Amino acid sequence: MSRARGSTTQPSQREVQCLDDAQALCEAAADEFATVSCRAIEARGVFRIALAGGSTPCRLHQILTEAPYRENIPWDRIEFFFGDERTVPPDHSDSNYRMARDTLLTELDIAPERVHRMQAEHRDLTGAARGYQEEIASAFDVTRDGPPPPFDLILLGMGEDGHTASLFPETEALFERERWVVGNEVPKLGVQRMTFTYPLINAAERVVFLIAGQSKATALAAILDGPPDVSRLPSQGVAPSDGKLLFLIDQAAGKLLHPATHNSNVVATE
Ligand code: 6PG
Repeated sequence: MSRARGSTTQPSQREVQCLDDAQALCEAAADEFATVSCRAIEARGVFRIALAGGSTPCRLHQILTEAPYRENIPWDRIEFFFGDERTVPPDHSDSNYRMARDTLLTELDIAPERVHRMQAEHRDLTGAARGYQEEIASAFDVTRDGPPPPFDLILLGMGEDGHTASLFPETEALFERERWVVGNEVPKLGVQRMTFTYPLINAAERVVFLIAGQSKATALAAILDGPPDVSRLPSQGVAPSDGKLLFLIDQAAGKLLHPATHNSNVVATE
C-alpha cells in the first residue's frame, strides 16, 4: 500500500502544551473549550464542535458540567457532533455517543436536536456516513458535495498506535480526499468504524489533541519529533490548513519528547 497522502502540509501553527497530569490537562482543555466557544458564539451566534471518543475526554466533560464552566458557557448555542463512532447501538458501553451523553450532554440538559449522533450501528455504514455528511452540511448550511465546512473546534484523542478518531494505521480512510465522513474497516481490531476524514478535520478553525499517560509516550514522540509517516502514524496527518493545532499533553505522555518540543509553539514558515 503506497504511503497515505494524509496532509503533507504543515499546520499554520502547531502548539504543544505539557501539563503536570491528566487532571491539569483536562482543566486546560476546559479553559480552551470556554474561550473558543464564547468567541465563536459572540462572532456567529453558534459554536460547532466535534467531540473525541475514548476515555480521556470523560474528565474534561465532567469539569465542563461544574462551576465556573456550567454557568459561563452558553450551552444552548452549541451544536455537538462526533469525530468518530463504533459500529454499536447508542446504548452500548463502547459507544462514544453514550460516553458523551452520560458525562456531559444529559447533565447539561442539551436539547436532542443539537446533538448530532453518528448512526454507525446501521448495516449500510457507507450510506450512514453519507447521511452524516448531509447532516453536517445542513447544520453549516453548505452544499453536501462542496468543500468541507470549518468546525470551530475538533477534539481528538490519540491511540498508542498513533491513530486518531478512527483513522487507524494502514487503513483506507487515510486516503480519502473528498468525503468528509466515511466507514473504515479496521482489520487489526476486526471491526468497522465511522470517522471524520483528513479533509474535514483539516478544514477546522482549531484542532485540539488530548493525550495523557505513559502508554502514549512512544507514539507521541514519533508523531511530533519523528519523520513524516502518516500511514503508520495517522495523527501526523492532522494539519489544519488555516486553523490552529494544539497538543494538550501531560508529563507522562511527553516524557520521550525532545525538550524543545515540550512546550513549543511552531508557526509554519511558508
Ligand atoms: C475512539 C476514539 C479514539 C481515541 C483514542 C484515545 O473511538 O476510540 O476516537 O481515537 O480518542 O483511542 O483513547 P483514550 O482517550 O481512551 O486513550
